[in-house]
This record gives sequence, structure tokens and C-alpha cells, in this order.
Amino acid sequence: MESRAGIVGTGAALPARVLTNRDLEKMVDTSDEWIRTRTGIRERRIVGPGEGCVDLAADASRKALDAAQVRASELDLIICATASPDQPLPATAALLQTQLGAPHAAGFDLAAACSGFVYGLSVADQFVRTGQARRVLVVGAEALSRFVDFTDRETCVIFGDGAGAVVVAPVAAPRGVLRTRLGLNGAYAGHLQVPGGGSREPADAATVRAGRHFIKMKGNELFKVAVKSLEEVSRGILEDAGVSAADVKLYVPHQANERITVAVADRLGFPRERVLSNIDRIGNTSSASIPIGLDEAARSGRLSAGDLVLMAAFGAGVTWAAALVRW
Ligand code: ACO
Repeated sequence: MESRAGIVGTGAALPARVLTNRDLEKMVDTSDEWIRTRTGIRERRIVGPGEGCVDLAADASRKALDAAQVRASELDLIICATASPDQPLPATAALLQTQLGAPHAAGFDLAAACSGFVYGLSVADQFVRTGQARRVLVVGAEALSRFVDFTDRETCVIFGDGAGAVVVAPVAAPRGVLRTRLGLNGAYAGHLQVPGGGSREPADAATVRAGRHFIKMKGNELFKVAVKSLEEVSRGILEDAGVSAADVKLYVPHQANERITVAVADRLGFPRERVLSNIDRIGNTSSASIPIGLDEAARSGRLSAGDLVLMAAFGAGVTWAAALVRW
């Protein structure tokens, strides 16, 4: 029987600290009503003092390993998708390997912003199908609140922190990853960026004073590119696989803005009950949003063996990605 790469365990983790719209009303000129109606978000979680992206990644990973009944020592590869690593060097995957105790795993970070988890799943799929790895941990983990300017009302209301993880391993057809599709358009790189703190504009007192280490976003422009890209990549992957939206049990889009999710779901013909949405509780957790959604769906029984799942993501770069998986 044909061997494929499949998702054999999921896990998720959120920081304990809750930041509500009411809390934000005290920080910037905004309102609970504006945030709820323009984004769908009621509250989000943010990391506390001393907590980093890797702590959330490790928590989510342990749960995914438990669910998959795989020991950390059996992992061959760790792919950590993140736009908010603990440090510029080394990779968060290195810190995660130590926390988990996975001495036989190779590992690296993957930078594709909110599309990072689906990019990572695509990489894991190639490794497992070629036989180069048997057990791969794919994590999407973010502590984006560390890069948010809490005086900028357009960005500080959107982002939240969290992590999701899956274990990818060989499974027998018809289960497994059927297809993935990835895209990038660097012409829009300026739409969402952290301009300072890198090699072109190294951090110094002036860049910090000017807030160059914070996320800068052209929200309105991004909104339009997001809807178009998500629709196109979703349609494309369904066509490639020869299946229709009606065959898909659950559509799990990146949670950027509820209005983006609804616009894309309507265009693709997904009724609301077949679309995963958790942005009201956790905000936009970037690369973590899809694996957190998968974990919620798997644990609540919304997804069971044999169901067809479509994931679609869009993020800074701009990047986009989709994966079609038989659960
Ligand atoms: N509270 C109150 N008013 C606000 C707020 C706020 N938090 N933020 C913006 N406004 C105001 C604006 O200043 C503007 O006022 P004006 O008309 O007086 O100029 C008005 O609201 C409308 O602004 P828009 O930018 O048109 O608002 P929009 O409806 O587009 O919502 C938002 C803004 C929520 C940022 C939206 O554009 C969005 O979600 N964009 C996409 C974000 C995204 O997809 N990010 C990429 C993925 S994340 C990743 O890759 C890490």
C-alpha cells in the first residue's frame, strides 16, 4: 500500500495572561465594539515576563508527542515555524530540542510568517515521503506581543501569542497529506515588516527610540491581498486534487481577521459550520493559528479519521500556502 506522510498527533499551548479588548481600551484610542466588528477578536493571550516563544512551543510539542505516542528521542527532525524567535541566534528549534530532549533530531527554524506552519508541513511531507525522516515535529510558535507597539492601535489589537504542534509520520493511504501548495510575492514585503534590528538596520539607541523594532503593517492593503491569495491558493489545491469544497469536512484558514475568513469562505462556498474560527478567543497568532485550530478540532471530535481537511494561510512576505490532508 502507498505510504504517505500523515498528521499522527496534535498539541497546542497558550500563555496564561489574557488581554481583553477592554484592557486595550485603556492603552490606545480604540473600543471593544470596533475591535469585535472590524476583526472578530474579543481577547488574546500574551506571554508574561521571562516567557518566550520556545516555552509555548515546548508545551504544544509535548502534547502532540503524547497524542502521537511518540517519544521525543524518536524524532528525526524539528521544524519550528516562527516570526518571533526567542533570539536571532541560535534557531528556536535548537532551544526546543533541548527542552524536549530530542538528541537524534536535526532541526531548523522556518521564516514564512503566518504561512510558516503550512510551509513546514509541506517540508515534513517531502522528508517523510522520501524516507529521509520518519518522525517529524512541525511547530508554529509565536510570541508576537514582544514585537507589537502597544501605542499603535492598528496592530496591537490584532496579534496574540500561542503555539501549535503536530507530529508527521508515515501513514497508509488513503490517509495523509494529499497535496501542498506554496507561494511568495516579495513585491509586497513592505506591507508587513519589522524594519529594524537586522543586518541592514542594526539595533542601536536611535532605532529603538524610533520604534523600528516593532511590527509595521499596512492593514488595508494586506486585507485585499489576503482575501485574493487565500481564495486562489484554496481553489488551486482543490482543483489539483480533483475535489470540490463539498468534499472538505473542515476548512482551517489562518486566523488573520474574521472578515477575511468569512469573505474567503463565502467565495469558496464553505458554510460557516465547516469553517474553523477561534480568532475571538486567541486573536491572530500567526504561524500558530492553524495548528492550534487543528488541535481544537481533533480534540473536540470535529475531525475524525478519514475526514478531508483544507488548511490555507497567508502572511508577511507576502507568503501563502495550502495543504489538503486526509485525517
Ligand atoms: N480602533 C479604532 N479605530 C481604528 C483601529 C482601532 N484599533 N485601527 C484602525 N482604526 C481606524 C483607522 O485609523 C481608520 O480611521 P480613519 O478612517 O479615520 O482613517 C479606520 O479605523 C479604518 O481603518 P482601516 O485600516 O480601513 O480599517 P480596516 O477595516 O481595514 O481594519 C485591520 C484594519 C483590522 C488592520 C484590517 O485591515 C486587517 O485585518 N488587515 C489584515 C491584517 C493581516 O491580514 N495581517 C497579515 C497576516 S498576519 C502575519 O503575517 C504576521
